[in-house]
Amino acid sequence: MNLPVAADPLRSAVLDGLRASPKRLPSAYLYDATGSALFESICALPEYYLTRAETEILQRHAPEMARCIGPGALLIEPGCGSGEKACMLLQHLEEPAGFVPIEISPSALQAAEGLVRGRFPRLAVHPLRADFTASWSLPADLAPGGRPVLFFPGSTLGNFDPTQALALLRRWRAIGTQAVIGVDLRKDPAVLIPAYDDARGVTAAFNRNLLARINREFGADFDLQSFAHEAIWNDREGRMEMHLRSLRAQSVQVDGHRLEFQAGETIHTENSYKYTVEGLGELARRAGWQVAACWKDEQGRFAEHLLRA
Ligand code: AVJ
Repeated sequence: MNLPVAADPLRSAVLDGLRASPKRLPSAYLYDATGSALFESICALPEYYLTRAETEILQRHAPEMARCIGPGALLIEPGCGSGEKACMLLQHLEEPAGFVPIEISPSALQAAEGLVRGRFPRLAVHPLRADFTASWSLPADLAPGGRPVLFFPGSTLGNFDPTQALALLRRWRAIGTQAVIGVDLRKDPAVLIPAYDDARGVTAAFNRNLLARINREFGADFDLQSFAHEAIWNDREGRMEMHLRSLRAQSVQVDGHRLEFQAGETIHTENSYKYTVEGLGELARRAGWQVAACWKDEQGRFAEHLLRA
């Protein structure tokens, strides 16, 4: 069921962010069908090491993760994307009770559902179309006796500031007694920056797609060519930031509002926090979890954590 336009919180966040100072856009808005497809292309880029590093961890350690998780897990994945990582874990879980992929992008959710159903024809799959940061609840008709286990890979946690990340981990704690959390680790900005500003310009297209989406969904008149993609390492906050920088002074009409841009003014479109193992452990403890295990890729770029209540 589609919400009436005026009540869509994501739509309101877009307008509020553009009228704020400094201007910002919600990073969840990156994931329409085009954005989700561009993100899948990003994952295959030579500069974007995150997906490969995490895939290496899952390939090597999913059997042990599955043993730690135990039988009867109901795997819940907020922001599942393509669903490929879940398959890598599901493959090793003993008698999983089901899989609940949650996605804001209908096209990604459909793809994930198709992939998982194709690979595990006997598994109960309950897709949920939702913004996982908003309120959602598990379908009532889920397999009884399943133990909810949150699966939150891909450094999705990194897209939230520390306050929001703490709130999310607390929420996962209220839903389940185990969680698998994948985060990108702090490293040399010389490695981080190209990962968010690749030579082929796929990340730039991913970022600019926000403006194309606003043009389409709000009848706005952003001139995409007059906004430049920027990826910045913010050392004080420990995060990568994506921005769209207006290359000239201009005014843009959005939903009946006239927005003024100064030359050089930016729209802040995404944060990607980079963690240390200690930092993630501290955050997890404050949210009511213990770190039961931690696995890294060989180069120590990425870490997968198993949390227990
Ligand atoms: C969705 C968290 C995996 O922050 O690294 C990729 C999104 N942004 N390139 C990230 C993203 C720019 C990504 N995650």
